[in-house]
Amino acid sequence: MTKTARGSLLDIEHLDAKEITGLLQLARRMNPLKPRPLLRGKRVLLLFYEASTRTRSSFEIAAKEMDAMTTLVLSSGSSIEKGESLLDTAYTLQAVGADVMVVRHPAAGAPLLMARHLKIPVINAGDGMHEHPSQALLDAYTILRHKKKLQGLQVTIIGDIYHSRVARSAIHLLSKFGARITLCGPPELLPELATCLAPNLHISRTAEEAVRGADVVMVLRVQKERLAGLKIRLQDYIARYQMTLARMKLAKRDAMVMHPGPIIRGLEITWEVADCPQSVIVEEVANGVPVRMAILARALGKA
Ligand code: NCD
Repeated sequence: MTKTARGSLLDIEHLDAKEITGLLQLARRMNPLKPRPLLRGKRVLLLFYEASTRTRSSFEIAAKEMDAMTTLVLSSGSSIEKGESLLDTAYTLQAVGADVMVVRHPAAGAPLLMARHLKIPVINAGDGMHEHPSQALLDAYTILRHKKKLQGLQVTIIGDIYHSRVARSAIHLLSKFGARITLCGPPELLPELATCLAPNLHISRTAEEAVRGADVVMVLRVQKERLAGLKIRLQDYIARYQMTLARMKLAKRDAMVMHPGPIIRGLEITWEVADCPQSVIVEEVANGVPVRMAILARALGKA
């Protein structure tokens, strides 16, 4: 594999458990309410080719909490609209003085391609249907605030797993730490092939079976923007897979409800479940800030 700049975060698959634990420990020391000027004078470039609310704002706030400067470049309104290639855009932004680049792109592998050509670290903020490593880290961070350890935890991931980079990164991370993972969804959104992602993955086609006895229930959005050609009858999906209070009752009493957002209430999750006491959906968003502070500090060699 071609060498990439130290500090890049491209995926979870190629990180080992020690590196993940190190990042989570660092995140625990990052208190967004007590700013630390660790990145004073550094420039964080946020390059977003796809819509984002949580990831973009929390990377930006994380950078600013450590006194870095941030510049946001969106595909609309930039020369990307005029046809400039990904690499030419990346070289341009490196030339204006970026010290680290956070990128979200619809194509799997775009951050890796950039990291192979740039001198600065690249952080993957979600690449197509591939990975979303900072989301997996903040989800692990959130779980560990409520549960002692990941090992042996029964985690159910339910929804559009096929299109989900969140699921892919979560599966890699959780399986490295010995969690027991059940994936649940219809065949169109969860092909049997998904079991190749990690050892000992279990597939269930029934929400009730998948949720029974779970410690963590991670619900995923049906990614309508990536469905191209796939015929999903949303009413059938809702009937079989929507996370309802009745289904949640089958999980352990202290089971956590997670969702990376954006949530579509009334589709993959009911209003009641989204707002129930077991829901940590808002906490996940908040935890994105210290976790992304840790990622940026590590990328710039400041921690
Ligand atoms: C997700 C994404 O963009 O991958 N959201 C996020 O970053 N928290 C999931 C989604 O879009 O459904």
